[in-house]
Amino acid sequence: MKCGAMKILFVASEAYPLVKTGGLGDVLNSLPHALHGRGADIRLVLPGYRDLLRQLGEVRILGWLDVRGAEGTVGTRVLETRHPDFDFPLWVVDCPALYDRPGNPYLQAGGQDWPDNAERFAVFARVAALLAQDALELGWQPAVVHTHDWQTGLVSAFLADQPARPKTVFTIHNLAYGGHFSHTDFVRLQLPSHWWTPEGVEFHGGFSMLKAGIVYADAVTTVSPTYAAEICTPAFGHGLDGLLLSRQHKLHGILNGIDTRLWNPSTDANLPAHYSAGRVQPGKRRNKQALLDRFLPQAGEAAMRAPLLGLVGRLVEQKGIDWVLAAIPVLLAESDARFVLLGSGQPVYEQKLARLARQFPDRVFVVIGYDEALAHQIEAGVDVFLMPSRFEPCGLNQMYSLRYGTPPVVFKTGGLADTVVDADAEALAEGSATGFVFDVPGVAAFLEAIRRALDLYRQPAAWRRLQQAGMRQSFDWADSAAHYLDLYSS
Ligand code: ADP
Ligand code: GLC
Repeated sequence: MKCGAMKILFVASEAYPLVKTGGLGDVLNSLPHALHGRGADIRLVLPGYRDLLRQLGEVRILGWLDVRGAEGTVGTRVLETRHPDFDFPLWVVDCPALYDRPGNPYLQAGGQDWPDNAERFAVFARVAALLAQDALELGWQPAVVHTHDWQTGLVSAFLADQPARPKTVFTIHNLAYGGHFSHTDFVRLQLPSHWWTPEGVEFHGGFSMLKAGIVYADAVTTVSPTYAAEICTPAFGHGLDGLLLSRQHKLHGILNGIDTRLWNPSTDANLPAHYSAGRVQPGKRRNKQALLDRFLPQAGEAAMRAPLLGLVGRLVEQKGIDWVLAAIPVLLAESDARFVLLGSGQPVYEQKLARLARQFPDRVFVVIGYDEALAHQIEAGVDVFLMPSRFEPCGLNQMYSLRYGTPPVVFKTGGLADTVVDADAEALAEGSATGFVFDVPGVAAFLEAIRRALDLYRQPAAWRRLQQAGMRQSFDWADSAAHYLDLYSS
């Protein structure tokens, strides 16, 4: 469907390459881009973090908006800029007191939340809601405001009782992050007292910005069909399953795509060699060699033949890192497998992984940190990708690994269940298998799935078919963008 020039205001707390802590950042680049490609007129508004401001070229001040903060009025400036990675104007809410800080957008250097996050994202939401009503009289009035995750949950709430307002869509990228704050914050921020009910934003004695998005948005989406069903159950609902179940009429699961401009093994500028489904070798092997060379200077033929398993991700409980930590020593003892892991997150996981690497310096290679280029090199250079997430709203890494000819081992949940076809006998026979799926949570089933992967890896013809089936999957954003456009116009 072509949508003419439907005006859509995207409101988000991250967008690659300006600011990214995970898949949210990726989506906030590629989804608006895909919609722009289908004729939509897009603006994307982001907070003016220090690292983001640093990357901006020429900016124009669109205007000034004063809104209620925690201590009184907070003055903000709205900047407009163009950036080579975005085909539409970006708007930035500049408020040095709240956003001009080094490092992570949500966390201090020590890993704790910024203590004023309630104010930071309430002010951001107030400004975004004003922009959605063209408060600066720019002559640009969106038909739809599309907000993402708890940081923007209040936008729909601020808009809900405005007379002539755009439609609001709220996307849940991860229900585990609820944006929970105290009653004191609620009062200090002078949020409307009628929101303070169990049917409003109140949540276990405090309030939840995520809940505000669910309650007040006209439509709620999440990033895969399976996760849309899972979050309506107590096991995945983080206390919001009852609410979500009651709002099922406006809840939609739309699978993310991947950005094939950035994630394409035949053009990826981060890779030492290129390859495609039609000709996987020798390109993929060169990537493995380069990756091994980085960690194991004398890597010989034996290391090249041995399976190399990889993981890239946030080191948090969601991602099943404890299962990985338990599985690796078993696999080291019973096979010749090696491991490359890149991630950052909870200090306990970082420390345990680093310790494992010190214990097995020629078998386990661990990089703690955030490294975009290395993430691409791991996707291309390893043989098997590990993603045993306990829950996964969508997950992009498994789709990247499919596209890079690196069959993933995944737990059957959320977007992982929707994108990976298990290599059981039937799927192998008909050529539809793309990876290894286990459906009982825990180390034992995870290990069994990895063992199946290692077995098949020893059968080159079957392995090649598996790789090629994954590489030929289309996870094009165009399909998802069409779903969003249907939703916007419904
Ligand atoms: P989530 O959003 O839950 O973190 P996704 O799989 O949707 O999971 O997306 C993760 C994104 O973040 C991917 O683009 C992945 O490559 C990237 N990523 C995660 N950790 C790192 C890291 N340490 N270095 C580089 N990229 C990372
Ligand atoms: C979240 C989820 C992840 C999803 C990403 C983008 O961070 O954890 O599963 O892919 O958002 O929607």
